[in-house]
Amino acid sequence: SASRAAGIIGVGVIGRSWAMLFASGGFQVKLYDIEQQQIRNALENIRKEMKLLEQAGALKGSLSAEEQLSLISGCPNIQEAVEGAMHIQECVPEDLELKKKIFAQLDSIVDDRVILSSSTSCLMPSKLFAGLVHVKQCIVAHPVNPPYYIPLVELVPHPETAPTTVDRTHALMKKIGQCPMRVQKEVAGFVLNRLQYAIISEAWRLVEEGIVSPSDLDLVMSEGLGMRYAFIGPLETMHLNAEGMLSYCDRYSEGMKHVLKTFGPIPEFSRATAEKVNQDMCVKVPDDPEHLAARRQWRDECLMRLAKLKSQVQPQ
Ligand code: NAI
Repeated sequence: SASRAAGIIGVGVIGRSWAMLFASGGFQVKLYDIEQQQIRNALENIRKEMKLLEQAGALKGSLSAEEQLSLISGCPNIQEAVEGAMHIQECVPEDLELKKKIFAQLDSIVDDRVILSSSTSCLMPSKLFAGLVHVKQCIVAHPVNPPYYIPLVELVPHPETAPTTVDRTHALMKKIGQCPMRVQKEVAGFVLNRLQYAIISEAWRLVEEGIVSPSDLDLVMSEGLGMRYAFIGPLETMHLNAEGMLSYCDRYSEGMKHVLKTFGPIPEFSRATAEKVNQDMCVKVPDDPEHLAARRQWRDECLMRLAKLKSQVQPQ
């Protein structure tokens, strides 16, 4: 029925992933894009992906690929994609003016119940939703690429977003198998990218200062920290690495502060260092489209297997 429909605005990389996730949860999905050809591409691409996933035993949800595909349809205009939907997920390119235009358009055609959600990675809700009549129903739901294999969704409210909007979006994300978390107040980079940039910043500095090679730096994450981080976060790591958090802080906070004081300013990301890092990266993955695509495919397959593993071990 219409109340089980989600509208997707913009069906590039991210819009397609959302479409697959909503269909896996049994929702009807209506696709809209400014380019009709993009909708045809998306439908074709989603069909191929779902068939492959089904063959690999990695299709999400309880419906077959054909059943899920039958839930997804293209729309010739934005009104049709919105009609009867309980959730609209905006996935147009990362451009504030373009997104504001889309939300103004949506604002003028929606009722008081539908949720208007943006996939933006770094635009602030206060900028995106400023002045909308339906601002209470607006929220950012930021996915992580590739969303089909990485379940986290950051929910970021506008100061005027209604608590029920956050709660409903949270529940919906869980229903489609994603893992939502709440960012209580908007902040540049939200939470995921703030953590990611902190890591990139220190990684860059260590390489620039000749302390470690770029490929060895990456090993520290993939063979070290990342092994834990797929299961427990940095705070729980502290908790477990002593007799609880308080004991960890008693034992290690002075040592941490001593090291943290040696961190430097924001890196310049100079061309010289970028070239040095690139050279090392290209030994394993040459930076032409074919090699990059093959490596991404390998990454996605690893993530798919990790997701399977996590679903087996998680219940604790
Ligand atoms: P994309 O470029 O692959 O897709 C954008 C789609 O929007 C295209 O199909 C384009 O034709 C369509 N479009 C452009 N103008 C439109 C309009 N006026 N009305 C309807 N459709 C329109 O972009 P992508 O990568 O899917 O990103 C979409 C959003 O998701 C961005 O805000 C991005 O920051 C965010 N995001 C992207 C991630 C990524 O890794 N690609 C990760 C998390 C969020």
